[in-house]
Amino acid sequence: MDHSLFGRGDRISLYPMKMEELEKMRILRNRNRHSFVTSKEITRDGQRRWYENYLNRENDYLFSVYYQGNWVGAVSIYNVDPKQSMAEFGRLMIDKELAGTGGLGIETTKVVCQIAVQQLGIQTIELEVYADNIPAQITYLKSGFIPEELFFDGEGRRMLRMKYQQT
Ligand SMILES: CC(C)(COP(=O)(O)OP(=O)(O)OC[C@H]1O[C@@H](n2cnc3c(N)ncnc32)[C@H](O)[C@@H]1OP(=O)(O)O)[C@@H](O)C(=O)NCCC(=O)NCCS
Repeated sequence: MDHSLFGRGDRISLYPMKMEELEKMRILRNRNRHSFVTSKEITRDGQRRWYENYLNRENDYLFSVYYQGNWVGAVSIYNVDPKQSMAEFGRLMIDKELAGTGGLGIETTKVVCQIAVQQLGIQTIELEVYADNIPAQITYLKSGFIPEELFFDGEGRRMLRMKYQQT
């Protein structure tokens, strides 16, 4: 959706993703496509259509991640359900080459959860990650997500469901 939420950690800042940042997101997403359930290559047109649909969805918040003034990645909170006080976390990607450092994923995850809790009134955030995606799982564990359930996706690949609970 066309939102105006933002957040800041010690090193990174999150801003609403802008149209002109889409191409960077598309390239990063294609490079990491096997980490995501929708793993097919995304074209420029496909990305633009996706973004137009995204702007019309009321419960989907996409952010750009900035570090030292540079765009370094993306993250989302979506399927936000204020009645159930629940949301889903996803689309986390950090370009370590652009960032010139590792470890920004934890801060990014923490800040987006803080936005969900403090600005959207959400208490429970869920995510799904491939069981073989160790860097992402370590990032989520260190950000306060707890492993909930192992299951198989439609293609028989093992996934882990994790939950963040604001107490
Ligand atoms: C997930 C992601 C954002 C984390 O980025 P980051 O903050 O730069 O973190 P790193 O990738 O450096 O690593 C995270 C942790 O995993 C560890 N790690 C990385 N590769 C590892 C491996 N093969 N085995 C064990 N540990 C590993 C790192 O040491 C680090 O742990 P530490 O904090 O204890 O040092 C980034 O890896 C990414 O963009 N991945 C591709 C997209 C993706 O998978 N998104 C998540 C989809 S659910």
